[in-house]
Amino acid sequence: MSGTETSRWVVPLSDVRVDAELRQAVAETLGSGWWSMGPRVADFERAFAEFIGIPHALAVANGTAALHLALLGVGCGPGDEVVLPSLNFVAAANAIAHTGATPVFCDILGDSDLNLDPEDLASAVGPQTKAVVVLHYAGFACDMGAVRALAAERSIEVVEDAAHAPGATYEGEACGTLGRISCFSFFSNKNLPVGEGGMIATADEELAERVRLLRSHGMTTLTWDRHRGHAGSYDVVAQGFNYRLDEIRAVMGMVQLKRLGDENRARERIAAGYREALDGVDGLTMPFDGHDPAASSHHLAVVLLPAAADRDAVRAALSERRIQTSVHYPPIHLFTQYREAGRRPLPRTEDVAGRLLTLPLYAHMDQSQVNLVIEALREALP
Ligand SMILES: Cc1ncc(COP(=O)(O)O)c(C=O)c1O
Repeated sequence: MSGTETSRWVVPLSDVRVDAELRQAVAETLGSGWWSMGPRVADFERAFAEFIGIPHALAVANGTAALHLALLGVGCGPGDEVVLPSLNFVAAANAIAHTGATPVFCDILGDSDLNLDPEDLASAVGPQTKAVVVLHYAGFACDMGAVRALAAERSIEVVEDAAHAPGATYEGEACGTLGRISCFSFFSNKNLPVGEGGMIATADEELAERVRLLRSHGMTTLTWDRHRGHAGSYDVVAQGFNYRLDEIRAVMGMVQLKRLGDENRARERIAAGYREALDGVDGLTMPFDGHDPAASSHHLAVVLLPAAADRDAVRAALSERRIQTSVHYPPIHLFTQYREAGRRPLPRTEDVAGRLLTLPLYAHMDQSQVNLVIEALREALP
């Protein structure tokens, strides 16, 4: 269902589905009279932890807050370096910088795999490196075997940015359970959308406790506990933040979580349709060909345009037919803010940067919409 805000597009890049169950869950929560962090957030955390199979999940205000707390939790701070792929959303780089650490960018594997290159990661690691923030690009897990081996050898922390990867797996293990701590985003365009929201997951109880404190001002009790009479007062034991999630988004998350498995499989079918229809289009490729589609959460449908294609012109031609596209991502190291940070040559990132194009993908996209995109893209190519 496209709402009024997205109806400019016949095929939006992503779309949310609003149905009676979601409306009712929100209405009930509004009517409960308790809107800020409370029992529904706790239920959502339990359900999410169970879903990915990890002991601790902590809901937060958004995915960027999750990254900030995760990095602080593992001890990143001034003087440290943190390595991450440049072909990425800027949130992890900003979060690293907010801890006082310096982001250092590493390259990707190449056209067929847009995830980080473990060898380049190894050469980016130096004596100051505290952590690596890995991304599972578009919902395809990066080479966690190599990342974990390197991290163990060089004593660095592994933080997963699993914003694209709820429900994705690596060698049978859930993304978000593969590092020391992981971060999810529930932004509106994500596989589990609530508007703004996020989750931190870890198997480490002490780390979970540290993050829990930082999430809410470093205070030892929540307003909810005091409201119930379970706590009379509180102490402040850390310099924290207000990164809490509210009850309304938590119930939205509960509803979306129940659908996530089916919706990821629907995304898989649509992505397979793109792959089949675009196979053989001269010079156009779809990354992650040959990767197990059932292991991916198919967050994005990304193609690499033929070198001769003018991406802006292709996007304009699709936009003309009311098909929304995007680019994931303009490399972070080329943004003004990060031009000087951790400067290293990133030839493969720069090589794909001008050819990336993200096509519409969401679970309730119908076949006629998929066909429209395919037809318009074929016509727009030189
Ligand atoms: C890879 C990645 N990391 C982090 C984020 C940040 O999440 P949020 O927008 O919830 O802060 C996003 C999405 O927005 C993302 O795509």
